[in-house]
Amino acid sequence: MHWSAFLTLALTASSNALIRFQCSQLVVERLDPLVTPGQVPSPHVHQIVGGNSFNASMEPEKDLPGESTCTTCQFSEDFSNYWTAILYFRARNGTYKRVPQLANAGFEGATGGGMTVYYMQDPLYDTAQKSKVQAFKPGFRMFMGDVEARTKAEAARFRQLTYTCMSDAGSREHETVAFPGHKCEYGIMTSLRFPTCWDGVNLDSPNHMDHMSYPESGTFESAGPCPATHPVRTSQVMFEVIWDTSSFNDPADWPEDGSQPFVWSFGDATGYANHGDYVFGWKDQSLQNILDTSCYAASCGGKQQSIADMNKCAGLKRTVEEDIGVDNWIAQLPGGHNVEYTKNAKREVPYTA
Ligand SMILES: *[C@@H]1O[C@H](CO)[C@@H](O)[C@H](O)[C@H]1NC(C)=O
Ligand SMILES: *[C@@H]1O[C@H](CO)[C@@H](O)[C@H](O)[C@H]1NC(C)=O
Repeated sequence: MHWSAFLTLALTASSNALIRFQCSQLVVERLDPLVTPGQVPSPHVHQIVGGNSFNASMEPEKDLPGESTCTTCQFSEDFSNYWTAILYFRARNGTYKRVPQLANAGFEGATGGGMTVYYMQDPLYDTAQKSKVQAFKPGFRMFMGDVEARTKAEAARFRQLTYTCMSDAGSREHETVAFPGHKCEYGIMTSLRFPTCWDGVNLDSPNHMDHMSYPESGTFESAGPCPATHPVRTSQVMFEVIWDTSSFNDPADWPEDGSQPFVWSFGDATGYANHGDYVFGWKDQSLQNILDTSCYAASCGGKQQSIADMNKCAGLKRTVEEDIGVDNWIAQLPGGHNVEYTKNAKREVPYTA
C-alpha cells in the first residue's frame, strides 16, 4: 500500500494506537556506547537521535531522563537514544561522501533528517492497534543486526531489516535485504524492526540481543506467539531512515561494472549488515501510558514538542573531531574500513583510485 493511502485509512479508523514520530539528529560521530562503551572513537560513524545526555559510555545505571535536558524527539519525555550507521557514496575515483538524509513526509525541517521511530502494538497496517504490550524498563537496551554479515543467509537471522528504493516520498513497496542494485529517484529508505519478545528479566545481554527474541513462529506482523524463553510481548520498535541519494544518481559516477555505489560507514557494500541500536529512556510511565491508550501518532497525547524545539536540542558537541565527509570527498572511511562487496571479497573492488 502506498503510504498516503495508509495514512488516510489509519486516520479514519476509530480506535488505533500507533506511536510514530520524528527525531532530529542529535549528533553524527564515531561513538557507540552500547557495543563499544567508553571507546573513543568507536570503530565506525553513527547518526544518533534522542536525549542529549548521550555520551561514549552510557552505563546501564545512567538515568537518561534525569541527566538529559532536552531530546531531539517529538515526544519530549522520550530521552531514549536511537542510532544507526551512516551511508556513504563511493565515487569512481575511490573517494567517499556522506549521503545526506531526509525526514519522512510531514516532518520536513527536522535537523539532519534524523529518523522516524515507531512503537507498534500490532502490525503497521492493523489500524486497530489494540494488543496489550509491555513498555521497556529503565536500563533496557538492545541491538539488532550483524556488522559482519555479507551474505543473504547471514542477514536472514534478522527478519526485518530492509531497504526500499523510493521513487517518491510515499514509496514503501518492494523491500529488499540487500542494497537496491539500481538508482532510486528519491532516495533509499532503511527500515529496522527490532525483535518483540523479551525474557522478562534481563535489561541487556552480552551480545545485546539474547534477552530479546523474534516470535516463535511467524513474525510480529503475523501475530506469532512469543517463545516460552522470552514470554513478554513488547511493542515493535521500528526506525525508518531516508538516505537522500538523489544527488548521486549520475550513471557516470557509478561503478563501470554496473554495481551499486553505496557503502555503510563500516565498509559493507552488500547491505546485509544493516544494524540498529536502542537505549530506552522514556520518563517514568510515559511510554506505557501511551501504549495503553488508543491513539495514532500526533494524537497519542503525552508531552510533545514542535520540530523547531526538537531542532534546538540537535547539534550536540562532538566528542570525536574528524572529517566525516559531509562537505569534502574523503580518501577513506573514518576508521579506515575496507569496502567489502562479498563475504570473502572474492570479487575485485570494481574501481580503485
Ligand atoms: C557520560 O556521562 C556520565 C554522566 O551522565 C558520566 O558519569 C560519564 O563519565 C560520561 N562518560 C564519558 C565517557 O564521557
Ligand atoms: C573524485 O570524484 C568526485 C565525484 O565525481 C569528484 O567530485 C572529486 O573531485 C574527485 N576527487 C579527485 C581527487 O579526483
